[in-house]
Amino acid sequence: MDNNKFSAIINTFSTSQQDLMDIAAAVRYDIEEGLKGNTSSLKMLKSYIGLPSGQEEGKYLALDFGGTNLRVVLIELHKNGKFTILKKVAKPLKVAGNYDFVGKGSCAKDMFDFITEIIDEVIEGNKNEEYFLGHTFSFPSSQTNIYNAKLITWTKEFATSGVEGQVVNDLLKESLSRYGFNNVKPIAVINDTVAVLLAAAYKSSDTYIGSIYATGHNTCYFESYPESNSQPMIINLEIGNFYKLAVNKYDTILNNNSELPDHQRLEKMVSGRYIGELFSYCLQDGLQLEKLPDFTSIDLSTILNDNSTTLNDVKTLITNHLSIELSTENARLIQTLAQNIVSRSARIVAATYCGILWHIFPNNIPRHNIVIDGSLFEKMPTVTDNMHEALHQVLGSDSAGINLVLENGGSILGAALAAAMSK
Ligand code: BGC
Repeated sequence: MDNNKFSAIINTFSTSQQDLMDIAAAVRYDIEEGLKGNTSSLKMLKSYIGLPSGQEEGKYLALDFGGTNLRVVLIELHKNGKFTILKKVAKPLKVAGNYDFVGKGSCAKDMFDFITEIIDEVIEGNKNEEYFLGHTFSFPSSQTNIYNAKLITWTKEFATSGVEGQVVNDLLKESLSRYGFNNVKPIAVINDTVAVLLAAAYKSSDTYIGSIYATGHNTCYFESYPESNSQPMIINLEIGNFYKLAVNKYDTILNNNSELPDHQRLEKMVSGRYIGELFSYCLQDGLQLEKLPDFTSIDLSTILNDNSTTLNDVKTLITNHLSIELSTENARLIQTLAQNIVSRSARIVAATYCGILWHIFPNNIPRHNIVIDGSLFEKMPTVTDNMHEALHQVLGSDSAGINLVLENGGSILGAALAAAMSK
């Protein structure tokens, strides 16, 4: 292993305070250009939904569709942040060697019929009772109202044919009707970031920013349109598509080899779907490997969790993947690389939050909760510390009032709230 070469690779993942300030300023600029209808790297998608009053109640079906697992839940809202899960079924959209509803060669009909079968399981075949369904659909969709959401493009390497350009709830309705479930009424579609924000706002007011930091990454915020007569509502930024960022050689290789080159540049630098792959490209180059290894973000988590002096977990993981034995010194370099990839991710995400805060609070930033759901935020070692440090580097003393709050399971509660708010 060429240590100098490896150290150079590690350095390409450093982000300075100035880089973070530039990202924050560019995010704010793009939000404000996007609101004026000018060119922006942010899609600024209207959700046609505001914040909940806290008085929402009743029984709803909630569908969470957007990551590796598909979940359908029958949930009862009891006002003021309270709810009960009555029944829940979760299934992966892909089981290797068994079925795959998301890869190349999969199609819309099979995918939506799979969803209907899960709904069938949750409502136990009931074709008489009326169920209103809220749908958290975690992909960029252009909406004309709370029901009508057309998928603009798949992200996170989904490739199912026949969904892009379609109204997703129409596809769901067609499938429900094929199975005779005309009593199940899809009435609202929201992005998962919107769901997280709704879920948090149901429990406490004064929350304006919701974010997902997981397989994918994205953020939304509540836009009050202080300078126009537009109806206040939550805007899905699709921040994963932000591209005003300094990229390195490995970002470029990953981007060129992805399903959709040049889309989702920020997401490809920060989210769980991609950071393991970035690490793989670095090791391929650093260790001169013929074949690209297949490390995942879970491997990065294992590497970061090894606090021992001998780094045995790091060594074992590398031996299992690459059949090579590492010295402790080399294992340390590999761990530093993983740390830098993860800390760059966390610092970039935090810098984008600062740009959003500057837009919402142009004069001074009050105490504020940013609500976040997702495995990287919840479980990846060092992420929250890196985010807090980056917030401090950009906002100075104002960062003391910014809380990064975990909102676990917001997709389900948010879907039910959207259904309740639009009924
Ligand atoms: C999608 C967003 C979604 C995010 C988190 C991204 O790939 O474009 O719509 O919110 O993943 O799931």
